[in-house]
Amino acid sequence: MIREALIYLLNPATPLAKKYGFLYSSVALQHRYERCKKIWIPHLKNCQDLFLEAVNKLPQKKSVIILGSAHLHEIPMHLLVQNFESITLVDVIHPLKHHWLAKRNSRLKLITMDLSNSLDKLDALTSFADLQELLSALTKEKLFHFEADLIVSANILSQLALLPIDALEKKIKRPLTLEEKDLVCTAFAENHLKNLSQCQGRKLIYADREVIYRDPKGEEIYKGHYPVDFAGYKKLKEWMWMLAPLKEASKDYSIEMKIEAYEG
Ligand SMILES: C[S@@+](CC[C@H](N)C(=O)[O-])C[C@H]1O[C@@H](n2cnc3c(N)ncnc32)[C@H](O)[C@@H]1O
Repeated sequence: MIREALIYLLNPATPLAKKYGFLYSSVALQHRYERCKKIWIPHLKNCQDLFLEAVNKLPQKKSVIILGSAHLHEIPMHLLVQNFESITLVDVIHPLKHHWLAKRNSRLKLITMDLSNSLDKLDALTSFADLQELLSALTKEKLFHFEADLIVSANILSQLALLPIDALEKKIKRPLTLEEKDLVCTAFAENHLKNLSQCQGRKLIYADREVIYRDPKGEEIYKGHYPVDFAGYKKLKEWMWMLAPLKEASKDYSIEMKIEAYEG
């Protein structure tokens, strides 16, 4: 409790990150990692193997950028430091330890930004049509531009739509239908991919593409998937990740994700 309170007090967070619960999610993610890291090993190993394969193919290894860096559970800092001179981490919130490291090491740079460029516009939404209008405006914008030898989109694709959907549902006081949610998730994901493809450098993407809930007997009770066009990217691999075994998120179900990895 004291440790958590200190993190909430000391971890730098923008007003937007605080308002939309990113600090809370960051702390929760670290705690889940600490509880589940053994069961996550196959997933973490896949991410690290793919990263090292991508690094080995690079003609030059000066700079790397990680989009959605969070705690670097999937590609640990030591692999970044061993392979690159300059390391840039991009997220809407960075854990305290990364702020601390960046202050002491000129090779590490933190960029705190909303890669969807939508969060500061959510307050103004009053209907699903407003969100559709925002999405259509965002497709015409350059959301981000990075240049590096390797740019990794690190399990952020499905996250981009979560807050906007949540904020709109609160505002309009009804859950979005599955069709509406799919539409929003697809638009955020494809816009991210479009902006990523316009960045300069090799790209590695890994993203959760399907979620499966199972009851205590292992029977599937829900499967969720939304379409994303990965045109221009080559699929490398897919695997299952047991994100939350039974009793981690709930005693009634486990949560498993299908992860897909792409290069571009
Ligand atoms: C599942 S975590 C990524 C895990 C991370 N790759 C790791 O190894 O620990 C997703 C991250 O995306 C970030 N994120 C979500 N929406 C974002 C946005 N609009 N802009 C920037 N980062 C965002 C969250 O703050 C979170 O750290």
